[in-house]
Amino acid sequence: MIQRAYLDNNATTPTDPRVVDEMLPYFSEQFGNASSRNHAYGWEAKEAVDHAREQVADLIGANPNEIVFTSGATESNNLALKGLLNEGNHFITCATEHKAILDPAESLAAKGIDVEILPVQSDGLLEINELQKKISDHTRLVSIMMANNETGCTQPIKELSTFTHSNQGLFHTDATQAVGKIPVEVSDLGIDLMSFSSHKMYGPKGIGALYIRKGTKVGSLIEGGGHERGIRSGTLNVPAIVGFGKACELCKQEMREEGSRIKSLRDKLEQSLLSIEGTQLNGGKENRLPNVTNIAFSGVDSERLLLSLNGLAVSQGSACTSAVVEPSHVLKAMGIPDQLANSSLRFSLGRFTTDEEVDFAIQKVTEAVSKLRA
Ligand SMILES: Cc1ncc(COP(=O)(O)O)c(C=O)c1O
Repeated sequence: MIQRAYLDNNATTPTDPRVVDEMLPYFSEQFGNASSRNHAYGWEAKEAVDHAREQVADLIGANPNEIVFTSGATESNNLALKGLLNEGNHFITCATEHKAILDPAESLAAKGIDVEILPVQSDGLLEINELQKKISDHTRLVSIMMANNETGCTQPIKELSTFTHSNQGLFHTDATQAVGKIPVEVSDLGIDLMSFSSHKMYGPKGIGALYIRKGTKVGSLIEGGGHERGIRSGTLNVPAIVGFGKACELCKQEMREEGSRIKSLRDKLEQSLLSIEGTQLNGGKENRLPNVTNIAFSGVDSERLLLSLNGLAVSQGSACTSAVVEPSHVLKAMGIPDQLANSSLRFSLGRFTTDEEVDFAIQKVTEAVSKLRA
């Protein structure tokens, strides 16, 4: 019988051992600076970065020179928003975005950018007519996430981008939770800019990318040295980039099979947990990632529930951003009452999740809920 289980893959994933193997030589053997042009150490590092850039681009159907490496999706989102928006511009996003969009949006609003935050429906989906109501000729950028980190809800990106383009705006998506889990082709989806991150797809932490469609001009946040075509200066983290590239290659090869295996484990977990009395699924069953379920256990405080789940790693439907536990802004935006949001848990499965771990989770949660209710 196992003693612990990790069902928090939307927070981060373990680095795939095949990724680690690929990275290792770039720490102490091929340790060159990819910008050193005068010797083989530099050339080797540059070659490794070029190869990784191709692997990353290949996963999303982009051209390698449309990829800018960053420290992760938080930086990519900041770069997209702050690198494009100037005082007086109109910017549209939505209420269920990650804080890595909502916080920069708030600081841009304080600098004179006109920020519009669209509501979502109870299933988490953004209706195209909400965008229709607010978009205008002055809208410079629309940013809508591809898949939500808490519920897995996937937005109608192609429709949203088409509509944005017909109004002469640019379309950005935070695809951090989608890339590597579901097929993403930037051209098919009409995406101009896209943020994504290595540690959500079995690569190392601290590395990510911003896809910038050729011809789109983005200002830089970090200057000095002119790396990444002047958009993001700073010595490239070669081992991490190599790992990110390998992680993308593996996702491309394995995503389809992996997705259906994970989905059947997720469905088994979800069905079992929803058979407990007084539970409900947060968000719709359609249009979502294959690896996530978010469930409310009415009458049970999720904080106390988490503490009773010895050995089971899952996430709360609320955020401990200050001394007070606040209901998740995502669940709140979907109209879920605070009390239910504070009774919710997110379970996110991944490449290394086993059937045994799912059984362990079902047993732990079922026992804990009945104990706490008693
Ligand atoms: C949707 C989404 N955007 C952005 C981020 C931030 O990503 P990173 O950790 O790479 O900065 C996360 C991480 O939780 C996320 O889920």
